[in-house]
Amino acid sequence: MIKLSDFSSFFVANWKLNGNFQFIDEFINNLMLPKDPSKCVVICPTAIHLDYISKNKNGFYVGAQNVSEHEEGAYTGEISVDSLSDLNVNFCIIGHSERRQIFKEKNEEINLKSERLIDNGLIPIICIGETLEQKEKGITKKVLEEQLMNSVPSSSNFENTIIAYEPVWAIGTGLTPTIEDIDETHRYIREHNEKLNKYKILYGGSVKASNAKEITGLPNVDGALIGGASLKPQEFSVILAD
Ligand code: PGA
Repeated sequence: MIKLSDFSSFFVANWKLNGNFQFIDEFINNLMLPKDPSKCVVICPTAIHLDYISKNKNGFYVGAQNVSEHEEGAYTGEISVDSLSDLNVNFCIIGHSERRQIFKEKNEEINLKSERLIDNGLIPIICIGETLEQKEKGITKKVLEEQLMNSVPSSSNFENTIIAYEPVWAIGTGLTPTIEDIDETHRYIREHNEKLNKYKILYGGSVKASNAKEITGLPNVDGALIGGASLKPQEFSVILAD
């Protein structure tokens, strides 16, 4: 199992439903990994490409974008944690807002999936975040609290779990909260309870080369979960270098 405390920060590329073999070859050829070995780089391709990228990886870790809460059995189309382990996958994004919104995943399911990963030595990257409507209603903290309470399993701790704060309205839109708002929200998550104090907490939502340094430089931000900009190896490399 990866020792999270060996790293100062995490930069996770969420490729979503993008990429093919040619893209992966070009990406790896053009990727410049950070000189600082305490920065952990994780690439999360589609499930179909996990095997290929695992065999071709060099200097980064591999993550999945989803896993079944079931160990095995009659669950057509699902991906087991066992199959992820077979492919040397060390991380898995869980509860991304696209899964919560499009695929109707609930906190309880996210909790079970995270528990399954932890039990098998994989690191869940549990995503939480408010929608624009919730932000406008002024209930961001309440929403985050409910997500934290219900989607983080009791077996989770700072050594086996990462939290990613991703305001839903900032994902893929080019919009980001102000730097003060990111700072305040991350502090809120960290201080939410004693257990969360030592967790690595990533920010996600329109992180790009032009804003990554400022965001990830905040004391309570331990790295980033990056969608669109992670599909551009040159831009992603700039983010890693900062
Ligand atoms: P974005 O996506 O960087 O394109 O906003 C982030 C994410 O969905 O994790």
